[in-house]
Amino acid sequence: MVCVRRAVLDDLIAMQQCNLFCLPENYQLKYYLYHILSWPQLLFVAEDYDGKIVGYVLAKMEEEDGEAARKKDFETHGHITSLAVLRSHRKLGIASKLMRAAQRAMKETFGSKYVSLHVRKSNKAAFHLYTETLGYKIHDIEEKYYADSEDAYDMRHRFSSSDVN
Ligand SMILES: CC(C)(COP(=O)(O)OP(=O)(O)OC[C@H]1O[C@@H](n2cnc3c(N)ncnc32)[C@H](O)[C@@H]1OP(=O)(O)O)[C@@H](O)C(=O)NCCC(=O)NCCS
Repeated sequence: MVCVRRAVLDDLIAMQQCNLFCLPENYQLKYYLYHILSWPQLLFVAEDYDGKIVGYVLAKMEEEDGEAARKKDFETHGHITSLAVLRSHRKLGIASKLMRAAQRAMKETFGSKYVSLHVRKSNKAAFHLYTETLGYKIHDIEEKYYADSEDAYDMRHRFSSSDVN
């Protein structure tokens, strides 16, 4: 049985480990710390029956006092920084649950109008999750966004008043 719950400080190292197993984009521990200290409501982990962290979502807010807010048409919104589920636990709906938990918190706690994220053009599994399961749309393409020069889809999902997904 896997449960999805809010992350706490003690989870950060396990989240970082999970990220190292799953993705080429890795972050120093201080970046996880920055997220949890700034937006503790937006970090979730999937914990297996034996206490092992098998997935996480790391998210943040782009708020009105931030750099992005200087753009004329700025709207408060959330951003998914990173998402991963260990290979052993994939295709069980865990990523969908993590994403929905973060999105709900963005909307309910911070009044987020929409959520954004970047995904590699070649990442079929994640692209399917975002478009088919969660309703994201491609907003833009950022050429050579990743360190190895792969392009990213800049994707967005706008929250409606009735829906938190
Ligand atoms: C992408 C990832 C997070 C999906 O996690 P998951 O827990 O397996 O996803 P879910 O079980 O919630 O699946 C969600 C949907 O995506 C689909 N999906 C998952 N893996 C898939 C794959 N390999 N190919 C096609 N579709 C896939 C599922 O079928 C499901 O669709 P459904 O709602 O129609 O059933 C996981 O594969 C992963 O950690 N990948 C490596 C890290 C990564 O790419 N992170 C995202 C970076 S942007």
